[in-house]
Amino acid sequence: MKKIFLLLMMILTVSGCGGSEEKSSAEPAKVAKVQTSDKKILVVYFSRTGEEYNVGKITKGNTAIVAEYIAQKTVADMFEIKPATPYPDEYEACTELAKRELESNARPALAKNIDNLAQYDTIILGYPIWWSALPRVVMTFLETNDLSDKTIIPFCTHGGSGLAGTEREIADVCPNAKILSGLAVVGKDAQNDFPTVQKDVDAWLKGLGY
Ligand SMILES: Cc1cc2nc3c(=O)[nH]c(=O)nc-3n(C[C@H](O)[C@H](O)[C@H](O)COP(=O)(O)O)c2cc1C
Repeated sequence: MKKIFLLLMMILTVSGCGGSEEKSSAEPAKVAKVQTSDKKILVVYFSRTGEEYNVGKITKGNTAIVAEYIAQKTVADMFEIKPATPYPDEYEACTELAKRELESNARPALAKNIDNLAQYDTIILGYPIWWSALPRVVMTFLETNDLSDKTIIPFCTHGGSGLAGTEREIADVCPNAKILSGLAVVGKDAQNDFPTVQKDVDAWLKGLGY
C-alpha cells in the first residue's frame, strides 16, 4: 500500500514538471508580440492652403485633412513637409510656379527636415498631384532622407488625374524602399464629402492589413 502511495506521489511530481514546461513554452510568444508593437508609423504629407482647384479658398489643405484621418486610424505620428518659401495662395500663380519647378526639375528647400526618421519603418506619404507629378518639394524630402528598407505607402489628393504615375516616381527616387499600393482621393471630397473619403481610406487601410 505504502509502495502504491509513493508511486502515485512520483507520478504527480513528474506531471507537475510538465505543467511548468508548458508555462515556459509560452514565453517566446510574449517576446514576439512586444517586437511587433515596436513598429512605428509616420504619416508624412505636403498640402497647401489658399485658393485651390474646385474648392475655393481653403484654410486646411485637402491632403492635410486626409493625412490627419489616416494618422488617427493607424495611430501614427505626423510630419508636415513645408517649403522654406511658401507657395502662392493664388491658384494660378501656384500652378505657374509649380510648372516652372517641374520643367527645371527643381528641389525647393524645406523649411525644416525631420530628425527622427530612423525610429519609423513605415512611412505613409501624402501629397497633392501637381501637373500629373509629385510636387518638387516632396522630391526634396525623399532625396534628403534615407528611406532605404522603409515601407512607403503613398496616397494623393487630386482633381481628376488619380495617382498619375507618382508611385513610380517614388520607387525611382527610393530604390531600396518597399512601395505599397497607393490611394487616390478626389481633393474636393476631403472638403465636401468626408464620409466618402473615410469609407475609401478605411477600405484601403484594411486591404493593407491595418
Ligand atoms: C500647382 C497645382 C497643380 C495641379 N495639377 C493637377 C493635376 O495635374 N491633376 C489633378 O488631378 N489635379 C491637379 N491639381 C489639383 C490638386 O491636386 C488638388 O486640388 C489637391 O487636392 C490639392 O491638395 P492640397 O489642398 O492638399 O494642396 C493641381 C493643383 C495645383 C495647386
